[in-house]
Amino acid sequence: MAKILLTGGAGYIGSHTYLALVEAGFEVVILDNFSNAKSDVPNRLQDIAGKMVDVFQGDVLNHADLDDVFAAHKIDGVVHFAAKKAVGESVAKPLDYMHNNIGGLLNLLAAMDAADVRRIVFSSSATVYGDTIIQPIPEDNARTYTSPYASTKIAGEQILEQLPDTWAVGILRYFNPVGAHKSAMIGEDPEDIPNNLVPYIAKVATGELAELSVFGDDYDTPDGTGVRDYIHVEDLADGHVLSLKSLLETGKSHTVNLGTGEGSSVLDVLAAYSEACGQDLAHTIAPRRDGDVAVLTARPEQAKAQLGFEAKRSLADMCKSSWEWVSGQRRNTH
Ligand code: WQD
Repeated sequence: MAKILLTGGAGYIGSHTYLALVEAGFEVVILDNFSNAKSDVPNRLQDIAGKMVDVFQGDVLNHADLDDVFAAHKIDGVVHFAAKKAVGESVAKPLDYMHNNIGGLLNLLAAMDAADVRRIVFSSSATVYGDTIIQPIPEDNARTYTSPYASTKIAGEQILEQLPDTWAVGILRYFNPVGAHKSAMIGEDPEDIPNNLVPYIAKVATGELAELSVFGDDYDTPDGTGVRDYIHVEDLADGHVLSLKSLLETGKSHTVNLGTGEGSSVLDVLAAYSEACGQDLAHTIAPRRDGDVAVLTARPEQAKAQLGFEAKRSLADMCKSSWEWVSGQRRNTH
């Protein structure tokens, strides 16, 4: 049974990918510094998976931590999530983002090389496409950064693309991951006021926040509000399993979008969430947010052609699973 190192595996996408990998028959070791993950996530993963969770509290910035993990485990492949991912924060702290996201990747690659481990799935983002007029976006679209966060993802991709053929690399460009695990025991759990749309709406639904500010209704879109390609986090996790299997079986690299190819506006999401939680959700039209683009949707064909990946879950599924997680409806019935 192949053993996989999941850096940042206690985080939002990492924890869902952990469950998908275990379900697919992999052995998994989580490496996380818990800077953006609750300390009880591994316990909840243990309850859901019904087996011990192997967690190493450490940091990809710490060479000794990486050496210890590779010395303690015979790792066959790595899924690398551990990075900072807040666009706004990256504008305020660019060097912090370069150090963490690029420095951390370089440390990890050096430790992998020393341990003869050369299969890696890299968590990238649609943000590498910048503000492009071509929609839906194909993978061969030019890359350009609109924030330091985006520049660290482009840099990461460029580092990985230059590794020799002895390496097999899966670069996965996420569009907008939302939703929660069907158990409602793990989900998106932002510390303070969320920047992203769905976790913000979720807090309006629970009453923690008063109303949603819709950032602009004067875009060139059907209802004037921003359109994005939302993908269920469980579909995203399944995409990582297929990417890893492809690397281990073929030794060939790939770069694919993970999205549905469908666009949903802010008002579409608001209506879907209102349906999921059974209540009207207060909102107001506010000015556009700096840096936002009108439309961002994925060409999903390459993930299907190269990995056999296809997103299955709908926007309604995403909102329902998010609502069950934030409302704790099902958490105690697992
Ligand atoms: C979605 C839509 C907003 C909040 C970001 C990062 C990207 C990736 C995913 C890491 C937009 C609107 C939002 C609100 C609103 N992260 N909105 N009111 O900006 O598409 O992508 O998260 O890889 O890098 O940029 O996601 O959820 O912030 O916004 O009207 O309170 O919702 O204008 O149209 P975004 P988002």
